[in-house]
Amino acid sequence: MTDSFPILGFDHLEFYVGNARQAASFYETFFKFTNTAYRGLETGSRKVASYVMEQGKIRLVLSTALNSDHPIARSVLKHGDHVAVIALQVPNVVDAYQHVTARGAISAERNSAGIAAIPPTLAEDESGLLHYAAIHVYGDVILKFVDRQDYRGVFAPQFQPRHSVQPGWEAGLQTIDHIVGNVEWGAMEHWVKFFADTMGFQLLVHFDDAAISTEYSALMSKVVQDGSGQIKLPINEPALGKGKSQIQEYLEYHQGPGVQHIAYSTHNIIETVTKLQQAGVEFLRVPTPYYKELEARVGKIDESIEQLAELGILVDRDREGYLLQIFTQPVEDRPTLFFEIIQRHGAQSFGEGNFKALFEAIEREQALRGNL
Ligand code: FE2
Repeated sequence: MTDSFPILGFDHLEFYVGNARQAASFYETFFKFTNTAYRGLETGSRKVASYVMEQGKIRLVLSTALNSDHPIARSVLKHGDHVAVIALQVPNVVDAYQHVTARGAISAERNSAGIAAIPPTLAEDESGLLHYAAIHVYGDVILKFVDRQDYRGVFAPQFQPRHSVQPGWEAGLQTIDHIVGNVEWGAMEHWVKFFADTMGFQLLVHFDDAAISTEYSALMSKVVQDGSGQIKLPINEPALGKGKSQIQEYLEYHQGPGVQHIAYSTHNIIETVTKLQQAGVEFLRVPTPYYKELEARVGKIDESIEQLAELGILVDRDREGYLLQIFTQPVEDRPTLFFEIIQRHGAQSFGEGNFKALFEAIEREQALRGNL
């Protein structure tokens, strides 16, 4: 069977931030990324400065506007620092763009933040040709299609190489496992259908509010996945509970739908989390009874439960195996974006066995913020 919409993998995620130089330093110091490329005034980029940050196969681009009337500046004013672009590698940008726009996708020119239109475009310099195009997805997020098969440069035209990756600096983050979007109440179904209709994504799992509500907050979630199984996009919407759903809190502070969290995979979560904690990354903690009940719930695992408890790593099991995961605190002042670190031992799910303990931990933080 041929994939109607072939995707080679994630290319990069672009964050729009208020101060890219300082954000680059944050991701380097705390999350152990390396700045591998840069564009700015010195490289002939007059309106935007960007830092490409890499670790394993993960590539983040941190961009800031150099003046206040640039669309990036307006977008940051509204959302705070946020994930603005999800970029996927495709074998043919023109085919990808025509395929999705013929099936109802809106090109990025309609983005309410005023992001420039991106029909199929060819960027060229002495390093070759870079093809890209983009469409608008939930909130102000744009989905970009990139083909860099004919490009040998460091990232894109105008970018110059910075430091090479130092062995031993990294924390073992390998790939983007999944990217979660929060959308408004009633909009989840629309976006599941959007990814299915335009790119042939299939529904992988869904959770209703009965499955994942706590005393106070509730949410519903559906996960869509591309034909290759590499691109997993869970989509959450708030549900009614006794208090304010954590998704509603996000929507209020992000001022609309957007990316809630990004999960990075690792081959050794104990080493990774130890390194990140030493670097100063703050993680959500669950109460100790969680670990007393753990073995009865998930059975035998390779890792020491004592060590997991010390680091605050959570475990869940499904039919195919088990997984280990942990979530950071929000990485900025608005309670919006956070990260997950995940190690899969066969399990292909998302840790639903941890939702209750996790959401209670999130609610304690929400209460501290006066938002429950
Ligand atoms: Fe996740």
